[in-house]
Amino acid sequence: MKIVKTIEEVRKCIMEWRREGLSIGFIPTMGYLHEGHQSLINQADENDRIVLSIFVNPMQFGPQEDLASYPRDLERDSRLCEENGVDLIFHPEPEEMYEADFCSYADMSVLTEELCGLSRPVHFRGVCTVVLKLFNIVTPDRAYFGEKDAQQLAIIKRMVRDLNINVEVIGCPIIRERDGVAKSSRNTYLNAEERKAAPVLYGSIQIGKKLIKDGERDAAVLIKVMKKYIEKEPLAKIDYLKAVDAMSMSQVDKLDRRVLVAMAVFIGKSRLIDNFTFDFE
Ligand code: PAJ
Repeated sequence: MKIVKTIEEVRKCIMEWRREGLSIGFIPTMGYLHEGHQSLINQADENDRIVLSIFVNPMQFGPQEDLASYPRDLERDSRLCEENGVDLIFHPEPEEMYEADFCSYADMSVLTEELCGLSRPVHFRGVCTVVLKLFNIVTPDRAYFGEKDAQQLAIIKRMVRDLNINVEVIGCPIIRERDGVAKSSRNTYLNAEERKAAPVLYGSIQIGKKLIKDGERDAAVLIKVMKKYIEKEPLAKIDYLKAVDAMSMSQVDKLDRRVLVAMAVFIGKSRLIDNFTFDFE
């Protein structure tokens, strides 16, 4: 396995593989890898070669967010990658990705105007820009994204469709801890007491799913019951909890199509996200 820091080195490696007619799978990450990332790597095994990027992208963090404190451990990440068959890690410095006079952006309307887009106004412009850049650098056949970040996945799929990017985007299921907490690099921020409160997100998802199974089709009722459950946890503060159309991300009243029920909840100072999708068609 190779670890490279420059765009030029990635391009050279990719060119050699292309000459040999090999297919390339790509997993963009911000590092501090866990079983969620690992499941994407394992899914990418369907390609001849696997490229994984580790880049804590400054552009997708707001001024008050956790860019400086975002956890980093390249040595551990490299070991996990090596053990899981990654061929190339791309680990650039911010200056390699963004020249001092950088001023070109990939942006999107509609899908970015709900959920995390409301709470994190610059976030998706940063995500779209860096992912487009990474696609242009790596030129993968397939790229793997987790359903944990359901809005991000929908946005990347839409960008690829709208801008005719030649890559197949593959969504992979949410990987959870034994108590239901979705694996996340940000879970390391939780202290012991907060960690005990964190399963409240998954608890509300189970309640939501049961309501739907029992026939509930009114989005407002579903959201009200789920919110009530979360609000019983004193350490939890809901940022948003909404039912949206899984394609457009706009809010729905009736549960009558493919619906994404997504939430962001503060547990102490840490903002955790979770979701489930239900197809009513
Ligand atoms: P990061 O948070 O490191 O996540 C990298 C990928 O791993 C994303 O596609 C995310 O959805 C997936 N992932 C994280 N936790 C997961 C879990 N518990 N189950 C399944 N998949 C999981 O998302 C980003 O980085 C960045 O925004 C990025 C796309 C790299 C752009 O900077």
